[in-house]
Amino acid sequence: MSEAQPLVAVLMGSTSDWDTMQHCSAQLEALGVPHECKAISAHRQPAALHAYVEKAEQDGVLVFIGAAGGAAHLPGVLASLTARPVLGVPMKGWATEGLDALLSIAQMPGGVPVGTLAIGKAGAKNAAILAAQILGLAHEAYDTSVRAMREEQSKGAVDLPPA
Ligand code: RP5
Repeated sequence: MSEAQPLVAVLMGSTSDWDTMQHCSAQLEALGVPHECKAISAHRQPAALHAYVEKAEQDGVLVFIGAAGGAAHLPGVLASLTARPVLGVPMKGWATEGLDALLSIAQMPGGVPVGTLAIGKAGAKNAAILAAQILGLAHEAYDTSVRAMREEQSKGAVDLPPA
């Protein structure tokens, strides 16, 4: 994880989310975005979550990423605590393969948005890229690293033989 002052906070409801969210951290790292990752549960540790968000804002975190499974209220609670952008990543749960979390995170009532990504690894990775794109609006370095990453991945397209 990066040493510099974090600009992105990657929060997850449980350490059990790390298997998936490590892909978010790896993508942020690849894009050179200083970030920190924490497991803080919205329902098990509400006071710690409030305190963390307050301090993170003071310390200069600009984008929050929240990952959760099941009822998945962490991203919504995060969004209630900050006016900075919050991106939500639904985790595959134990009952409906993450559909429950996807709907919970996406269905924020009007007024308190959470930008919701895909379930699981794809969402974890895209949340990192989207966070870098948001930062890139004001920090040229992140705009440049996202463009470079996209250029690189476009080289992966290959012709397939006709069936
Ligand atoms: C959510 O419940 C977490 O985000 C996790 O996805 C899920 C299960 O948590 P554990 O019971 O594994 O801690 O709060």
